Amino acid sequence: MPGRGEVVYQVYPRSFADSDGDGVGDLEGIRQRLDHLRWLGVDALWLSPVYPSPLADWGYDVSDYTDIDPRLGSLEAFDRLLADAHDRDLRLLMDLVPCHTSIEHAWFREHPDWYIWADSGEGPPNNWTSAFGGPAWEHDSSTGRWYLHSFYPEQPDLDWHKPVVVDAMQNVVRFWIERGVDGFRLDAIDRLVKDRELRDDPPSEEPFGLPLMEHELGRDLRNSRNAPGTGRALAALREAAGDDALLVGEVYLPTVRAAPYLEHLDRLFVFELLHATWDADVLRRAIRPAAALRGRPGAAPAWVLSNHDFGRLAHRFGREHERAAAMLLLTLPGSAFIYQGDEIGMGNGPGAKPPRDRIGRDSFRHPMQWDGTAGGGFTTGTPWLPLDDAAVRNVADQRGDPGSLLSFYRDLIALRRTLPAGFEAVDDIPGVVSYRSGDRLVVINLSGERRSIPGGEVLLATATGAVSRDGSLARHAGAVIAPT
Ligand code: NOJ
Repeated sequence: MPGRGEVVYQVYPRSFADSDGDGVGDLEGIRQRLDHLRWLGVDALWLSPVYPSPLADWGYDVSDYTDIDPRLGSLEAFDRLLADAHDRDLRLLMDLVPCHTSIEHAWFREHPDWYIWADSGEGPPNNWTSAFGGPAWEHDSSTGRWYLHSFYPEQPDLDWHKPVVVDAMQNVVRFWIERGVDGFRLDAIDRLVKDRELRDDPPSEEPFGLPLMEHELGRDLRNSRNAPGTGRALAALREAAGDDALLVGEVYLPTVRAAPYLEHLDRLFVFELLHATWDADVLRRAIRPAAALRGRPGAAPAWVLSNHDFGRLAHRFGREHERAAAMLLLTLPGSAFIYQGDEIGMGNGPGAKPPRDRIGRDSFRHPMQWDGTAGGGFTTGTPWLPLDDAAVRNVADQRGDPGSLLSFYRDLIALRRTLPAGFEAVDDIPGVVSYRSGDRLVVINLSGERRSIPGGEVLLATATGAVSRDGSLARHAGAVIAPT
C-alpha cells in the first residue's frame, strides 16, 4: 500500500518571478521565492523546461539539453537555485523532454539519422496524428522525405530504437544528476518508442486533425506510441539517473495500461483525475485503480488537478469546490502535484493578444500573483503574459489570513504528514467520496446536499462549521476525521 509520497510544486519558470524586470520569470526570481515553498511545506519543486529553446512550444522544444535559456539565467544561476533549494530541504526535479528536440537543435542538422524519417512520396507514410492535431509527419523539401513529429512540426521525434540516441539522452540525464538534481518529470514518455515498421494506428472515430491531447487517453494509438521497446528505453533512463532519482512519468494512457511504466519509474500522473468532472462516481473511477498501482519499491501514483496544459483547478471545478478538491489532492495515497498559483486560487487568466501558444494554453500560464501591486509582485516591467486579478488574489494578503485558501493548503500539507499509510475506499455515503487511511477518515461531499457522516474528531475541514454538531457534512465541504 503506497504511503503518502512527496508534495511537488510545479513551477512554470517564465511566470513565477522576474528578478530583472524584463517581464519574464527567471531562475534568480525562483531562488528569491523559495521561502514561499518552504512556508507552504512542500517537499520538492518541478521546473517546467528551462533549457535554451526557440519557444515554438514554450520550452518543450529544446535546442540544447545541457544549458539554460539565457532569458531565464545561466548554469551558475541554476547551481545557486539548486543549492538554496537543498538548503531548505527542497528537492528539485527537472523537466526532461526525451521524445523530441527542437528543430533548431544541432542534432537535427548534424545527425538527421537520429530522427524518424520516411520516404513515402506525395503523402505522409501512415495515419499517425500529432497530439496537437493534424498528421504527425512533415515534408522536408530539401531531402524530399518526411519526418515524424508527435507534437508541433518544430519538434521532430528522436528515434529511440537507435542506441546512439539512447546514449545521447543518457548523457543528458547524467549531466543534470551530476549537477545535483533529484530527479526528472519525463515529458510525453508514452510517445518515446514507436512501431519500427511505422504501421498505421487502428482507424479512429475521431476526426483526423482534432486538437487531440485531451482525447488521447481513450484512443488506441498502438503503433504511434507505447510500442515494444518502451521498457528498454525506460530502463536506460533509470540506469543513467540512478536508483535514488525520482522519475515521474507523463504517460498519457489510461492508468491501468500505464502501470508497467512503474517497473522503471517512481510516479505516474493520474490523468483520469486531471480530466475528471466534479462528480463522485467519476472521481471514484479515477481513484480506485490508481490507488492500487504497484511497481518498483516505493512506486506510487502522482495526483494532479491542474497544470500548464489543462487549466486551473478553480476554473475546472468551480470556486465552491476548490477547497474540497485540494483536500482530495493532498490526502490521497501517493504523491501530490500542486500547480503554482492554485494555492491562492488563481483562475484561468485573460490570455494574450496575439496568442503566444498556438493551441490556446496562454490562460493557464499567466504570472504568479505575489501581491496586489500593478505587476503583481511578479515583475517591475511588462509581463510577458497579462496578469489576471492580483489585487483580488495574491500571496501577501492570503499569507496573513489564517482563513485564506493559502493557509488551508498549508494546513492540509501539515496534516498530510500526520496521516497513517494506507488507503481503503469506503464510499458508502451517496455522493460522498470517502476513504480511510489507518484510523483517519477523509470525506468529500459532492452530493449537493448536507450528508450524515461517521462521528469523530474533525482534524481539518474545508470551512469552519462544515461539520455540524449533529455530525453532518455541508455541501461542497470536506473533512478529515479521527476517532474520538
Ligand atoms: C507535454 C507538455 O506538458 C506540454 O506542455 C508539451 O506541449 C508537450 N508535452 C510536448 O512536449
